[in-house]
Amino acid sequence: MTERCHGDTRSPAGPRARTAIVLAAAALLAATGAAFLPSTASAGTTLGASAAEKGRYFGTAVAASRLSDNAYTTILNREFNMVTAENEMKMNATEPQQGRFSYGAAEQIVNHARSRGMSVRGHTLAWHSQQPGWMESMSGSALRQAMLNHVTQVATHFRGQVVAWDVVNEAFADGSSGGRRDSNLQRTGNDWIEAAFRAADAADPNAKLCYNDYNTDNWTHAKTQGVYNMVRDFKARGVPIDCVGFQSHFNNNSPYVSNYRTTLSSFAALGVDVQITELDIQGAPANTYRSVVEDCMAVPRCNGITVWGIRDSDSWLASQTPLLFNSNGSKKPAYDAVLAALNNGAAVPTTAPPTSVPPTSVPPTSTPPTSAPPTTAPPTTAPPTTPPPGGGCTATLQDSTRWGDRFNSQVTVSGASSWSVVVAVTPPQKVSATWNGSPTWDSSGNVMTMRSNGSGNVFGFTTMANGNWTRPQVLSCTAS
Ligand code: XIL
Repeated sequence: MTERCHGDTRSPAGPRARTAIVLAAAALLAATGAAFLPSTASAGTTLGASAAEKGRYFGTAVAASRLSDNAYTTILNREFNMVTAENEMKMNATEPQQGRFSYGAAEQIVNHARSRGMSVRGHTLAWHSQQPGWMESMSGSALRQAMLNHVTQVATHFRGQVVAWDVVNEAFADGSSGGRRDSNLQRTGNDWIEAAFRAADAADPNAKLCYNDYNTDNWTHAKTQGVYNMVRDFKARGVPIDCVGFQSHFNNNSPYVSNYRTTLSSFAALGVDVQITELDIQGAPANTYRSVVEDCMAVPRCNGITVWGIRDSDSWLASQTPLLFNSNGSKKPAYDAVLAALNNGAAVPTTAPPTSVPPTSVPPTSTPPTSAPPTTAPPTTAPPTTPPPGGGCTATLQDSTRWGDRFNSQVTVSGASSWSVVVAVTPPQKVSATWNGSPTWDSSGNVMTMRSNGSGNVFGFTTMANGNWTRPQVLSCTAS
């Protein structure tokens, strides 16, 4: 991760503001048409792989208690590259007694995910619901202080392990008011949400900070507009917010509507990422799942989708059978629709890395150059690198799609159907997603051993550049 210094995060020109400038530059490049590249990778065969090939993620909610269920973890490990703790990071789980923090179940999920190359969304730092008993009975400045301490402690504990936090969850009222929901937190003062975001920013300057809510999918609803106005106000005043999560629990009372895409793109236009954070759809109609994914893929800043559970039997709404896998673990028609929509969708805009920004001094235009101008931008694809032979197979690494902060690589193995390939990235680079293989890591986190897992002989991974655009190196290929 790039280190952003603490202390200046409250300034409008602090790290999040600088990120905004880089993103604005990226948007400009995209607008000029220079930055859209066709995806070079072949269509993926799992949800996470297909999303990652498009510069996005596909996640699921995970319950720590189910990690001992083999059928569950088989699907989790195969299909997803982002994980949200279903309950284990909530306030009642992480601070069951005031000032006594308990992270065991959350860490089980974080470790399961990160040791397998999946990323983690943090859910949630401040919420009116699932508060510990001691907090439920608090009010006023004591509650405000306790809430801010909770945000600080938990975000600090998971710093570097959580890519995005739902800092505040469900703070707006249902119905026609468009205003805030009444709660003990709301009664501490209307500024409690921004106070929580500032505390989270100070604790983990690198995590993306999201506001997350439900029934905010329909663009015409007062609640959607209320959240939109808050995010617009936060951006205008420099409150550190990076993303908005749409829970998107769709059912007969709160159905998917075709203006969902307008909602996503309207929020994105405020300068935040948008993410679908808790998707489930009553009855799991394939067409509706397809529409949701297509809507996300149509919005460049919709960078990920999370379904709220794996199999129907894992769902908090099991009787609605709202998920992508049957209770026996088989894929439902909705799964195929989602996979196809991911594979047919557009990649998020690619941007040249910051190092290729043209020099600020302009050469004189009147005299012809005496030598060829230097080529500043590294090529987006490069000749494959081949490791020294030996080990019974050959692994060839090819550059794939590149974005402003990260790039994909694809490795093709020949000479063996069962193999293990060792790949190294250069610090401070970090691999943030992988597909079509089972990765393990050395203790530095920079050397990945990828083993075949029956997904064929081409695997891929995403590297966060963190300022270093060196191509990853294949160190060895061993037939097994
Ligand atoms: C749900 C969990 O899935 C259940 O296991 C738990 O009993 C209640 O909470 N909005 C959210 C999630 O933000 O945290 C909720 O998760 C579902 C609604």
